[in-house]
Amino acid sequence: MADGTFDTLAVVGAGNMGSGIAQKMASEGFDVFLVDLDEEKVRRGLRGIGKTLDAGVERKLFTPEQAAAILSRIRGTTRFEDLRDADLVVEAVFEDAGVKRDVFARLEQVCRRDAILATNTSSFAVGDLASGLQWPDRVIGLHYFFHPAKNRLVEVVAGERSSAAAVARAWMLQERMGKTPIRSKDSCGFIVNRFFGPWLAEAVRLLDEGVADVPTIEAAAKQAFGIGMGPFELMNVTGIPIAVHTDDTLGAAFGPLYGTPDRLRRQFESGEAWDLSGEPEPAKFDAVADRLAGIVFYIASALVDEGVGTIEDTDIGARVGLRWRFGPFELMNRYGLPRAKQLVDDVAARWRVAVPRVFARQAAAGAPFAFTLVRRADADGIATLTIDRPDALNAINGPVMAQLAAAFHAAAADPAVDGIVLAGSGKAFIAGADIRFFVKNMEAKTIARIYEFTKAGQQLLLDMQRCRKPVVARVQGLALGGGVEIALACHYIVATPKATFAFPETGIGIYPGLGGTQRTPARVGRGLAKWLILSGETVTAEQALAIGLVDRVVPYGELDAAIRACVAKGAVLERQPHAVPDDFRAIASKYEATDVEALRASEKRVGVKAPIALRIASDLIDRGEGQPIEQGIAMELSHLEEIFSTNDAYEGLSSLGKRRPVFTGA
Ligand code: COA
Repeated sequence: MADGTFDTLAVVGAGNMGSGIAQKMASEGFDVFLVDLDEEKVRRGLRGIGKTLDAGVERKLFTPEQAAAILSRIRGTTRFEDLRDADLVVEAVFEDAGVKRDVFARLEQVCRRDAILATNTSSFAVGDLASGLQWPDRVIGLHYFFHPAKNRLVEVVAGERSSAAAVARAWMLQERMGKTPIRSKDSCGFIVNRFFGPWLAEAVRLLDEGVADVPTIEAAAKQAFGIGMGPFELMNVTGIPIAVHTDDTLGAAFGPLYGTPDRLRRQFESGEAWDLSGEPEPAKFDAVADRLAGIVFYIASALVDEGVGTIEDTDIGARVGLRWRFGPFELMNRYGLPRAKQLVDDVAARWRVAVPRVFARQAAAGAPFAFTLVRRADADGIATLTIDRPDALNAINGPVMAQLAAAFHAAAADPAVDGIVLAGSGKAFIAGADIRFFVKNMEAKTIARIYEFTKAGQQLLLDMQRCRKPVVARVQGLALGGGVEIALACHYIVATPKATFAFPETGIGIYPGLGGTQRTPARVGRGLAKWLILSGETVTAEQALAIGLVDRVVPYGELDAAIRACVAKGAVLERQPHAVPDDFRAIASKYEATDVEALRASEKRVGVKAPIALRIASDLIDRGEGQPIEQGIAMELSHLEEIFSTNDAYEGLSSLGKRRPVFTGA
């Protein structure tokens, strides 16, 4: 499938990691070559992919036809020459620097000059693997996590000589593949393994020192880190040799604190799995959790000190890659900095290492770590503001809204900025307002906070709409609810073919409150606005273009150029009417001519939505016609307390992701 920048991808090494990466690429529509040394290895890799896909079919993640189509896009080969047209090749061979260098040397012989060559190494420096090559600028690190078709995290690593363009293109490809990329410096263990390996080692030390037994450490770790498997079970599942390899490598790079405990090595040599049996002793949970947390707090702070990753990426790495409920820095905030300081001081004293500066500074300030949730990057007079909560699909909560407003106003006032772009990090543009923020405030009976949040959001969107500088929404993936509303407040919406748009609100008991009931009809007309908002139907980028909901749909690789073209045209303060194709005109007239009650009876999709939310939404669309936007959004806000006080809103919001809501109309 053409994507503008990448058509054909390749993976060298058909082991577990390599074949998983190839599977993910193929399931995102790319043609993939899977290369290994001999036919049998290739066949084994393909068989493994087939089995994973079959399991996916059984779990109803794909239809048998989809699974067959994915498999048909992967071509197994032993011939490097087949990679002549590949746009990006990921090397995922055995963790041996010599073997990897040899692979790169062979790739250099056959691949096009503009092809990106990536290594999935977890222990070698990307720069070292690329040294000796004629064009090391195109070599980067893409470190995937097991299972790469399921785990969304990927560490994108720039080696010493990697070109910024290669890194940016590879990053874009990860987003295009639905991955959650984070940036890591080219440093041993990158971000996640750097603290994960020693976390496993610390669990073994706790056992060895007699602090607690295996079942107690397992239970304490699960509770403290919010995970389904403790360190020993994880080692049993992923392989004790891998844990030893990680700690050996880290120990060699960073010293004994990171090294492999003798007890772990003995277990490895015995070839036995850890014995998990026995009853945990809850009285020892705190002592265990404190030691595990201490080592993670120390290392996470050290890697930020060294510039390996940011605090945000470190936390995303833990949450997405390891499925911890909280990242290290969020966990430090939850412990409270004074208590976290005791734990870090203990680590520093035990191992005779210095307390990392980033931690010492924060502890001295006595304030929790603050996270940057909106990043700004400027290029050619365009300020791009990227919401950076990829693991929550960039859902908007209070801090995101506040940071977005601050970043937007700063960019709008900056004389060096000619245009502003709003973007989302990862696979989604914005999945709407943060549902958890709503639920929390409903449970705490602090609906006033939701009111303030919505009012501030409305004002920000109004400022965007009125901005004299062009404001462009860069919608590369999913846009839901508040995400569509933010895009609609921009002067231009530029989307990729993968973008989708929907208003799920009435299906979760509420209505769009950030101008959606006003700006949607202004863009696509009253009938289609009712269809979108009352039925919650998802529209593809192509459909969105046809009905005038978006301005441009371009392949990923052309997004930046399309955005620049919009900026060059200037702000749009008045919209021209858009001609809608016949099939959509029929939908529009049905929704425009029919009242809500009749729609509930005749349209299945409307019938399952929350009745009060439907009524208010429809009424707001009707009453907004011909009104200035300021008045329209004031009307939206005036129903906020009412809707968030309904049982149906609580039912809809709190059941999301767990079960189908049952609305009673109350
Ligand atoms: N608020 C808070 N968290 C959200 C969110 C939202 N609006 N949308 C997604 N997330 C979170 C999910 O809870 C999940 O967190 P977890 O990993 O801690 O469980 C994470 O983002 C990834 O989402 P996930 O559901 O795993 O991704 P998916 O691709 O399978 O499904 C959606 C995506 C969009 C279908 C699903 O997340 C969803 O329905 N979200 C709510 C959308 C919504 O109703 N928005 C309108 C709000 S007004």
